[in-house]
Amino acid sequence: MLGAAAAACVAASAISQERSAAAVPMPASAAAAAAPRFPSYDPRYPPPPGTPPAQVFQLSQDFPKTYAADTFAWEKIDFKAFPNEYLRAVLNYCLEGNVDVDFRVQDNPVRKWYHAPWLHDDGSQFGGGREWRRGMTRERMSRPFELHSKQTGRGQNWAVGFYNDRGGVGLGKVWLTADGRPDPAKSTFPPNTVACKLLFTDAPVEQVPYLANGKVWTANIYPDTNYNKPRVDKEMRLLQLDVAVKDPRLARSSGWVFGTFVYDGGSPGKTVWDRMSPVGLIWGDDQSVRIDAQRNGVFVNTALTQSRINGFLVEQPGWDYGNRAYVRHHGLGGRVNGPIDSPISSCVSCHGRAGTFANAADPVNRGRPMAMAVFSANKPSDFPMDKFDEFFKPIADGAHLETQDGSQFMTTDYSLQVTGGIRNYYQNLRSQPPVVAEAAGNARGARAAAPVDLSDAPPLPRVDRDAD
Ligand code: HEC
Repeated sequence: MLGAAAAACVAASAISQERSAAAVPMPASAAAAAAPRFPSYDPRYPPPPGTPPAQVFQLSQDFPKTYAADTFAWEKIDFKAFPNEYLRAVLNYCLEGNVDVDFRVQDNPVRKWYHAPWLHDDGSQFGGGREWRRGMTRERMSRPFELHSKQTGRGQNWAVGFYNDRGGVGLGKVWLTADGRPDPAKSTFPPNTVACKLLFTDAPVEQVPYLANGKVWTANIYPDTNYNKPRVDKEMRLLQLDVAVKDPRLARSSGWVFGTFVYDGGSPGKTVWDRMSPVGLIWGDDQSVRIDAQRNGVFVNTALTQSRINGFLVEQPGWDYGNRAYVRHHGLGGRVNGPIDSPISSCVSCHGRAGTFANAADPVNRGRPMAMAVFSANKPSDFPMDKFDEFFKPIADGAHLETQDGSQFMTTDYSLQVTGGIRNYYQNLRSQPPVVAEAAGNARGARAAAPVDLSDAPPLPRVDRDAD
């Protein structure tokens, strides 16, 4: 008994050391004193001393245990027949109350929203953790001419996502565990969970004219896409807005509707938000449709049944668009993906592979994410079709086991922010002293395994929209 109690004690102190090692100064509040807090931004790149707390991103993390029995405007809209109306209803919900508080989502007077923990630190090798001004994480860069025919340079893209209260319940179950370790098996989100994501680019208006008159944020990011330190303040413009809805009509299939908008500075809408133009939505990957899978460029694939694309955004060669928006690619075979996304994937394909190595007692592999896409292929014509089934087969919603390349993974219900957070959590443990790391890693198990020094091990693969 005594031995077990002592071991538990060692584990507990190891966890508190691990938390403090990653901790950064937080604005004090009653809640902050009561519970351990997840850091808000990458501690390698803190705000300058004296920055007023109101200017510093704060992770919204008072995760609720229950949610209200709300009804939602999109529930009555048939997303297959009326995709634009469905997306507009979801967008309005994402904006309500958040616009007035400029997306300090915990201050939203209508309803609170929540951020996923552990996206603040993806390791020094990558340095894409949340920046301190807006909580944005680094996203796939835009290659020249991907966004517009005038885009001669690369664009650096950063984004921040947030979940409604139902999503917050799910995040709390994964992260607020008795032993302090994330539990991916708890990653099943309730019906009508909504996640929204604002994606900003540093590509200039001269190169991407449809960014004109848009929403501008200052963010603390890299000077350019070489991602050389130190981070600097830069102006960024809203380019894309993503939504994901756990729609109960899709229970027992993918569970989720993914949709995306592009900002259209030349459209007549009165506000920035009226000028968001729907690109499309997708709820499945049409595994049986291989036609045009290796076709490059932008087109509407009429063989697809599980996605809806807005044809009016498809670029027409030779057309002078002025500062109207258009898109130059979608995902593989015309499946839905946004302007900043990789053309060899799709929303459902990448998010369906949200999963983390199932055996958390395996110190070398714990935290390892499932492969999300064939990132070695840069364009559809390079996509290896022998991998098509692996990346485009249907994945059920809810946390469950999936096998990939002979390993078992626990899926995290299409949430790549959960999979990425778990990856970062275990990557961070690797740089703690090995005994501490191992004790913390075994806090749940009855027996402590021999310490393994992983400080020199290659980093776990990153959870990102591309390999860049
Ligand atoms: C190739 C991979 C990839 C593709 C394709 C992709 N995403 Fe994601 N997405 C990610 C990653 C990685 C994250 C988590 C990282 C972060 O938010 O910092 C993420 C996060 C999100 C989030 C925040 C909640 C969550 O599930 O993690 C939403 C919402 C989202 N994506 C929507 C979309 C939509 C809509 C599309 C298609 C238009 C899309 N994504 C396509 C990789 C992808």
